[in-house]
Amino acid sequence: MTKTNLEAAIDNPIFTTISNVAKELSMDAYVIGGYVRDHLLNRGTPKDIDIVAIGSGITLAKQVASQLQGSTDVSVFKNFGTAMIKYKDIEIEFVGARKESYHRDSRKPVVEDGSLEDDQKRRDFTINALAISLNPHDYGQLLDPFDGIGDLKRKLIRTPLDPSITYSDDPLRMMRAIRFATQLNFTIHPESLDAITNNKDRIKIISKERIVDELNKILASEKPSIGFTLLHKTGLLKYILPELLALEGIEEVEGQRHKDNFWHTLEVVDNIAENTDNLWLRWAALLHDIGKAPTKRFDKKAGWTFHAHEFVGAKMVYKIFKRLRMPLNDKMKFVQKMVLMSSRPIVLSEDFVTDSAVRRLIFDAGEYVEDLMTLCEADITTKNPKKQRKYKNNFKIVRQKIVEVEARDHVRNFQPPISGEEIMATFNLKPSREIGIIKEVIKEAILEGEIPNNYDDAYALMLKKGKEMGLVAK
Ligand code: CTP
Repeated sequence: MTKTNLEAAIDNPIFTTISNVAKELSMDAYVIGGYVRDHLLNRGTPKDIDIVAIGSGITLAKQVASQLQGSTDVSVFKNFGTAMIKYKDIEIEFVGARKESYHRDSRKPVVEDGSLEDDQKRRDFTINALAISLNPHDYGQLLDPFDGIGDLKRKLIRTPLDPSITYSDDPLRMMRAIRFATQLNFTIHPESLDAITNNKDRIKIISKERIVDELNKILASEKPSIGFTLLHKTGLLKYILPELLALEGIEEVEGQRHKDNFWHTLEVVDNIAENTDNLWLRWAALLHDIGKAPTKRFDKKAGWTFHAHEFVGAKMVYKIFKRLRMPLNDKMKFVQKMVLMSSRPIVLSEDFVTDSAVRRLIFDAGEYVEDLMTLCEADITTKNPKKQRKYKNNFKIVRQKIVEVEARDHVRNFQPPISGEEIMATFNLKPSREIGIIKEVIKEAILEGEIPNNYDDAYALMLKKGKEMGLVAK
């Protein structure tokens, strides 16, 4: 093994403290995992530090915490033999080097003390098994028994052990392999990919929360389609998002074909990733066509239709979020709203764009109208340059009109200019249907552009409508 000194990576008083404390305790200690990997990849200084001790990680953590300036919390996880210190905004995790073996049905390992190499061997990937010594005799020395450095150069995700053992020990690693491949734009070693494919059904023992954590990291990457293509290729997607898989395929009847909505969706997700970091808008892109599989029909006259797929899709968003134990809060509602409205701007952009159509769009989308436009622009995946140009240009017009109409009519956070109370007072009415009818007439007239969005015009219309309904103003 070539000797590489990485003292520069550990040029921080925290490491000096850990090193000194370990020496006092006659223990060897190493920095390991993501911290080393990300330093070597120049991904900035990571916030989390993993320390492996040859001895008790808990003892080392407690002693280090007492030496660090200022208040430091130590959380001890006795069952796992680990402890964590929060110091300023850094989390330092301590673990004793272990030999482990796992039961088939659980992620809980049987643990024995081990050497550094035993510990490195049981880690997920060679690039995550890189360690830097904190011990005085070889401080800063890189310890890389599985050629993690070579794999960083080759841009390769590879397991230190036979991959079927590594993945079977902890099936979450199948998701992690795909997540790292996506984040780092690395290739998964063919034997690893085969092992994931063969072990895919073991993903069932992993909690939904952990799976979603990885999915979110894939979605937050620069090119999320890398991850979803791998989830598809290995067969994992069937266990995680079968609804997405159901979009795959092209059918042809009487010479008419529809597009493959699975691969289209992945293009949309990559497109949107270029324009927004909003994770929930990215989820909306992933799920925008989800209702197309259950609504697909062929009709001799109309050809392929996906009638009401947006509505069905919005309902599916709830079911998917619930099944994956994702938040059922305003984030979910936002995704539902985007899916429900996902065809609106494209319909607008195909036609001549009227002011009233734009007003309705702003009214219905409210504060999310820009997000909706971002989604719909990402939805343009046609390879026909003429159509591509036409849609893009029409979207520009829609965006311009949104600004103009909003400046003039203020319908984004529409508040009816005449309240129900005022209608009741004017016509001396008790709460009744009539009030709703008049309010609706006023709202429609504003959205259609028949009257401007102001009090006087709305008041006049109220009187007119009331008269038609046989009501008498006081
Ligand atoms: N690890 C592992 N198997 C897992 C999870 C983690 O072997 N299922 C090991 C890896 O060596 C990893 C280290 O534990 O580098 C720390 O894990 P974690 O903090 O989850 O990941 P990082 O590699 O630090 O990367 P990130 O912060 O991007 O998740």
